[in-house]
Parts: sequence; structure tokens; C-alpha cells
Amino acid sequence: MAKPTLTLNGKPVEFEPGQTILEVALNNGVEIPTLCYLKDATPTGACRVCLVEVKGARTLVASCAMPAGPGMEVTTDSQAVHTSRRLNIELLLASGNHNCLTCEANGRCKLQALAYKYGITDIRFKGQTQQYATEDENPLIVRDFSRCILCGRCVQACNDVQVNRAIGYGYRGAASKIVTTGDRPYHHSDCVFCGQCLEACPVGALVEKKAKGQGRSYELKQVRTTCPYCGVGCQMLLHVKGDRIVKVTAAQGPANKGRLCVKGRFGYDFVHSPERLTTPLIKEDGQFREASWDEALGLVAKKFKEIKKEHGAGAIAGLSSARTTNEENYLFQKLFRAGIGTNNVDHCARL
Ligand code: FES
Repeated sequence: MAKPTLTLNGKPVEFEPGQTILEVALNNGVEIPTLCYLKDATPTGACRVCLVEVKGARTLVASCAMPAGPGMEVTTDSQAVHTSRRLNIELLLASGNHNCLTCEANGRCKLQALAYKYGITDIRFKGQTQQYATEDENPLIVRDFSRCILCGRCVQACNDVQVNRAIGYGYRGAASKIVTTGDRPYHHSDCVFCGQCLEACPVGALVEKKAKGQGRSYELKQVRTTCPYCGVGCQMLLHVKGDRIVKVTAAQGPANKGRLCVKGRFGYDFVHSPERLTTPLIKEDGQFREASWDEALGLVAKKFKEIKKEHGAGAIAGLSSARTTNEENYLFQKLFRAGIGTNNVDHCARL
């Protein structure tokens, strides 16, 4: 069956039923700015930055929330669209403390990028903004409500993506705020510190505590890798400055689809820990001493041979790790089955 079509900036384009105007535009290489849109989450239409013109519509429409319809005539960058987007960005800038100089998000902030794109050089609307104390008590996430633009992406990330349901909108009007149940701090709430809200925040309202002051986004190199903690195989990006990991964010992968858990996202300190073993240790007379790999592996092989000779191969068992790759686990069982001659092989499939 022929797909429905609409007109996008004067060009006819096909779309799938159920797609929004924003999705149709993205599929056709037409850029529409967004702030509150979070892929695969229910659109909230909160920021009004993605406004477009639809012929015959009474007002400009939020493209992230408006389903595409057959025969629609959509214009994504008219003067009216430009003026409205600019105004909405100005209002968001005026709604809080958006001092980029001291903001940890400087360089990666979507609001900052849009202000630059739309040529905003001054805060036109000046007034009283709500004063909030920064929440800094937990060891992982800093919440600065004065920088929050109430886009709701953190709420979508918590409720729609991770389905933890730890945060939502609270209060009303100018006092509106993202809250946990009872507006308690994260560490006294249902929050499990997966950090998905951090990842979703387009401004500097949610910041990873350990990464503060460690480098601007444009100074960090991103290295894609697989989480080492369990066998799920979540994909992640290491943000590296020099030879140090500054923070970890999720990458899209078949197993995690852009999500991470508390361990994957925050548990990277061990990499640079001075307590980390970097050389084999051999215990003699109750004391460990450093050894070379050749010496350590030679000792292990010698002990295996002694045990096998005295008690048989069945006296030896191998416990592998769910944190290693399939290929490594294959080689491990091969070593025990074919090399040593025992079927006593297992692995820790638990976290
Ligand atoms: Fe559409 Fe915010 S991105 S309203």
C-alpha cells in the first residue's frame, strides 16, 4: 500500500502513520531544534522550541507532539517560526540562572547553543526568578533547580525510559519544580541513582558530581566501549581527558538502548585507583610479593600438574567470569576441558 505523504518545506515526502512531524522532518534531513523532546518517550510539548507552521492551523504547532497527517503542508523555518522560537528561548533564559561562565554544562548546553543560533545576546525579560538551594548532599548528582528549564526530559527518562518513577512535576506556576515524592532530596527518595536524568538534562540543572571541574565537554574525547560489570553488554561512552576517565554516559546498543545502571554509569573509579593490582602477586610465608607474569603462570601450571597427578583432573575446577567476553569464556572452558581434562567449569553469572 502506498505510504501517505505531506509537503515539507515545499517538497512532498512520505511518512509512516503514527510518526510526528518532527520524526518525518528528521527522517528527511530537515533540522528542527528541540529541547524537551526525548526519543522513544511520550512527548510533553513543554519547551515550544520545535514550533512549525502547518497550513490551515490556527497557531504554530509543536512538531514533536503533532502527528503527521496526509496532505499537510509544513514549513519548518518561516519568519513566524523563527520569531516564536526566539521568543521562547528568551523566556527560558529569563526563567532562571543561566550564567554560562560558571555552569558545568558550558559547551554542551542545548539552551546555550540555541541562544547562540538565534542570535540572542541579552536577557530581554528581567524579573524576579525563584531562588533555590542547590541539592548537593548525595555523592553522585548535583541538582541546581535555578538552572532547570522544566523541559521534563529527566522525568521522561526516569518514568518512561528507566521506569523508576522517582520524580515528577511539583508545585504550580512560577514555583513549579521537578520533585521526588514529598520533594525530598534524591538520597532520601525512591531514586536508585541510575543517572538517566543526568543524561537527559539539556542544561546544567543536573550535573555529575565527580565530573565537576574535570573538563569541559569540548576537551573530552569519547571512547565507546562495553560495560565491564556484568554479562548484559551495555554500550557506554567513556569521556576521557588525557588518560583519565572523567565521566561515563550511555551509548545506544542492542542490550541497553541508551540506558545504564548505577554501576555502569558511576562505578569507574577503580580504573584509576592506586589500590588496583597491576602486577601478579605470589604468597610466600603468609606474605605477598610481586612477581612477573611468567613466574606467576609457571607456578599455577606447576600446581595444577601436582594436583592432577596426586588427585586426578576431577579435583580441579574452573570458575570463569560473566564479565568477560564470550570468546574468552569459550577459551577458558577449552583450557579446562581439553587442556586439564575436567568438566568442572562454571562462571559467576551474578553481579
Ligand atoms: Fe517540541 Fe519541546 S521539543 S515542545
